[in-house]
Amino acid sequence: MKKIGILTSGGDAPGMNAVINGVVTAASELEIEVVGFVNGYDGLINNEVMPLPISYVKQINALGGTVLGTARSAEFMKPEVREETIARLKAEGFAGLVVIGGDGSYKGAKAIMDLGLPVVALPGTIDNDIPMTDATIGFRTALNNVMDSVDRIVTSAASHGHNFAIEVMGRHAGDIALWSGLALDADVIITDKAEFEAANVVTALEKSKASGKKYRLIIIAEGAMTAEAFKEIIEAESDFKIHPLLLGHIQRGGMASLDDRIMGKLYGEKAVHYFENGGAGCCMGIQKNQIVIQDLTEVLSAHKEMILPFGYTGAKYRLID
Ligand code: F6P
Repeated sequence: MKKIGILTSGGDAPGMNAVINGVVTAASELEIEVVGFVNGYDGLINNEVMPLPISYVKQINALGGTVLGTARSAEFMKPEVREETIARLKAEGFAGLVVIGGDGSYKGAKAIMDLGLPVVALPGTIDNDIPMTDATIGFRTALNNVMDSVDRIVTSAASHGHNFAIEVMGRHAGDIALWSGLALDADVIITDKAEFEAANVVTALEKSKASGKKYRLIIIAEGAMTAEAFKEIIEAESDFKIHPLLLGHIQRGGMASLDDRIMGKLYGEKAVHYFENGGAGCCMGIQKNQIVIQDLTEVLSAHKEMILPFGYTGAKYRLID
C-alpha cells in the first residue's frame, strides 16, 4: 500500500486540522496510508508519529490549532539533517509528504522536493503572506477573531471616549491589519512604517473626533510598528491619549471559519489526488476562487503582494476619511 506523510509547521492556523481531515479522508478511499509527523519538521527528523484514524480526523475539521502540533525547526535548516531524514523516508517507502505552513515551511518543502521526495506545500498561516494565493488557510478565521475582539473593545472605548491603538499579527504582511481595519471602520490603518507620518495620523484623529464619533480606533500591523511605539509618537505630537493594545494569540485561536474549514478539507483531498497522479512536487493556492496547483520554486521566489479586498483601491497605509 502506498504511504504518505503529513506535518504542520510554523505558527498554527485554524483550518490545518481540516487539511488533515481532507488528506486522511481522500487517502482512505484510495487505500493510501497516512502517517502524521508531530511538531513539524522536528517530528520528521526524530520520526515522532501519531496515528490519524479516520474515526478521529472526522471529528477535527472545525477545530482550530493543529492536532499534530507544530514548531519552527532550526534543525531542519541543516542540509545534512535534511538529507538524512529524506533518505530515511524514501527507504521507508514514503511516496510523498504534505507540508502545511507558511513561508519558512515552504522553504523546507522545497528542500525536500529537491532531494527527490514528492511534496505538496499548502499555505497554512494566518498571515496571508504566501505569494500568488488569494487567501491562506487561517487568514479568514484570524480576521473574524480580530473583528470579534475589537467589536467588544469598542463598546468600552465608546463609553469612555478612549482612543485604542491595536496591534494585530501578520509578521511582515499587513493583510490582517488592512482587512480587519476596513471591516472595523477604523480611523487609521497602518500597514507600512515607511509611509507613516505622525502629522497625517493626528489630522485623521482630529477629523474623527470632530465628526462626533465617540472613540478612535487605530489598527496597526505588527510588521509596521508596535502599538506602544505608536502611542509614544502620537502622544508626543498631540493631545490624544492612546490606549495601546497587543491583541496577541486570541487571533489564532478558536474554531476555524467557514472558509477555512471548506478550503482546508479541499486542499487536503487535492494533495492526495496530486500524489496519486504521480506529481513530483508542488504547492497549491487559491486563484479566482479555485484551488490551483502551482510551481513551488516560482511561488517561493515571487514577491508577495498585499491582497486587497473586493477591488479596494485605497492606500495600503490608510488614513480613513
Ligand atoms: O506566523 C503566524 C504568527 O502568528 C505571526 O503573525 C506572529 O508574528 C507569529 O506567528 C507569532 O509567533 P509565536 O506564536 O511563536 O509567538
